[in-house]
This record gives sequence, structure tokens and C-alpha cells, in this order.
Amino acid sequence: MHSLTVAVLPGDGIGPEVVAEGTRVLRAVAETWGHEVALREGLIGGCAIDAHRTALPDETLRLCREADAVLLGAVGGPRWDDPAAPVRPEQGLLGLRQSLGVYANLRPVAVHPRLAAASPLRPERLRNVDFVVVRELTGGIYFGEKRRERLDGGDERATDTCTYTTREIERVVRAAAELARTRRGKLTSVDKANVLETSRLWRRTTTRVARDEFPDLALEHLLVDACAMHLLRRPADFDVIVTENMFGDILTDEAAMLAGSLGVLPSASLGEARAVRNGMRRGLYEPIHGSAPDIAGRGIANPIGTILSVALMLRHSFGLEKEGHAVEAAVAAALDEGCVSADIALPGERCWSTEEIGRTIADRVANLATQAGRLKLSLDSTTGRL
Ligand code: IPM
Ligand code: MN
Repeated sequence: MHSLTVAVLPGDGIGPEVVAEGTRVLRAVAETWGHEVALREGLIGGCAIDAHRTALPDETLRLCREADAVLLGAVGGPRWDDPAAPVRPEQGLLGLRQSLGVYANLRPVAVHPRLAAASPLRPERLRNVDFVVVRELTGGIYFGEKRRERLDGGDERATDTCTYTTREIERVVRAAAELARTRRGKLTSVDKANVLETSRLWRRTTTRVARDEFPDLALEHLLVDACAMHLLRRPADFDVIVTENMFGDILTDEAAMLAGSLGVLPSASLGEARAVRNGMRRGLYEPIHGSAPDIAGRGIANPIGTILSVALMLRHSFGLEKEGHAVEAAVAAALDEGCVSADIALPGERCWSTEEIGRTIADRVANLATQAGRLKLSLDSTTGRL
């Protein structure tokens, strides 16, 4: 039995709706396998700005530091969109990623056959698509110096700086390469080395790390514009893609279209592998979609990205591979039965509510476990062991 503490940060927009289903599934897992889970809620983003005038209250940060893992919904919305506002909801998310030091953001992309029809791509292109984008999450242009100045003559000038150090590149490339070793052994590094200095350092560092430490892997380099094209032209060729912060942000929204919807993609953000406590590696888990203010409060958002993020949490933070796999199998089983939200439903198909989908998946988790238990019992009895 494991005793787990999870910080739960629902955030804004559809965040609270999808996180409620994520925690429902987490509780089903805990009940089924007899783990103890303590959920501690905190504010982040716009709702934190309303309550505390900061997007990341100290209290929330403390909660996250004390927890074994963090489950986050989404932040932002039109209410807090004033460009002149001194604080923005996104600062909460970026501040949290940086404070927790979770530099490797894993975004797995797989196509459930049932969802191929929801993708704008032809189904034959989607066969065997199964890759992970490892996005650098705590550096680059997101965190570089920003400036705004008024020039003589009234013109305004804005500056964002993109910076990477060798060390920042090495550690995320190592995380991606380790992952590729457990998969098909192929690593694609994405940059813009024909234009950007940071990308030239990225490419040289990646080449060296792969040559010296991972000679068993097949490394390819792609320019980001070409990668955007190849993701549509030959998506099944990719295994692990590693790239810098902003390229990873953009490419994964594109990649979500292979899977049918932005609503189904999960993510896991991890820091140093050495930072393990009681066998647990702290991580931040969130769907890749945003707060979707246009559909917030209507109970129609797709909770699958969040539920699959819970599966990643079970696997990466708690080492509960069997439980993580059960959640993924439960999602697949629910989809097989046509349990789909509006974003992935085909014309004429019934759209399930956020809660109906969450309940269905939570039920399937328990059922799958019982079936697996029975199977194990009967296997054991055939060998005479019980
Ligand atoms: C994401 C989101 C965030 C990002 C936003 C909300 C700041 O788009 O997680 O992909 O750009 O990282
Ligand atoms: Mn994004």
C-alpha cells in the first residue's frame, strides 16, 4: 500500500470540471488497490488573482512542495486578459513550473482507433502513431528577459530574449534519450539551427550527448518548420521528439490534431530524477489544453486529457505502473463503448457530459482490476498456488 499526497489545483475555466473527474478516477484507483490518497486543494491563475491578487500564492506553492505530485487543470480567461494588467493567470503556471524545477515536459501522443475519425487527417496516416514530445519547460523565450520601451517618435519596441545554457539542454536531452531507450530507440531533436544561436547550441549539445552517452539510439535532427510538416506527413515515424520550450508548445497543439482533439492529450512535467522521496518522484501533471472559457461551466468539456495525466502521475511519480496502465485501459474501454464528449463525437453521435465520462472511466478502472484479479487467481490455481 502507498500513502500519497496530491496537491490539486483546478484553476480557471473548464479546469475545475476536468480536475473533478481526474480526482474521481484517482480515488477509484486508491479504493481498488487499497492506496491512501490525500487531496489538498489550492488556488492558481485567475481565481488566485481574484482572491489574493497574485496568480501563485505562497500557500499554493507550499502545498505543491509538500505534496508528492501536483494535478493541475488550466489557467486563464477573458476576465484577466487585459494586456495592461500587472498580473496574469499564466504567471501562476509558469512560476509553478519554474519553482518546482520540472524541466522535462512529456506529452505522449497516441491515436485511439475510435478517435481517428475525429482527426482532420486521413485514417491511414494515423495508423501506428505513437510518440512522445519531450518539451523543455523551464527555459528559453518563456523565461528570458522581457522589455517594453517607447522610442523617439512614439514607436514602441518590445523584446523577448531566448536563452539556453549547455546544462539546460543536456538534462532535457538526457531525459528524452532515457525515454527513447525504453521505447523504439529513436530520438528526433527539433531546432531552428539555420537561424537561431540557441538552436545551434541545442544541436551541438544534443549531438554530443547522444554520441557519448546514448550511442545505441538513432538520432535525427529536424528544423522546426520541417517538423511541423512531417508531423502531418509521416506521424508514425516519430518515437521521441525533444525540443525547446516554445517549439514544443506549438508542435504539441498540432500533434493533438492527430489524436482527434486537444482535449485528450495529457502531460507529465518532471525534474531531477535524483529528487525522489520515499520512492516517489515529484511531478506536475496537467492536460495540454487551456481553460476553454467558451465552454466553461456547461459540463461538456473533455476530461480525458486530465484523466490520462492521472495515469502518468501513477506511473512516473508513484511507480504504480499497473494502476497507471489500468487507467489507460479504462479510457480505451470507455472510448470503445462510444463514451465521447462533444469535441470528439461524430455527427449524430450522442455527446456525453464531463461527469458521465469521468464516472464511466472510474467504473471501468474498478471492473478491470476485478477481472485482472480473477484472472490472476485462476492462473495461480492452475499452477497449484493460491
Ligand atoms: C501549455 C499552455 C501554456 C504554455 C500557457 C497557458 C502558458 O499553452 O501548457 O501548453 O504556453 O506553456
Ligand atoms: Mn500550449
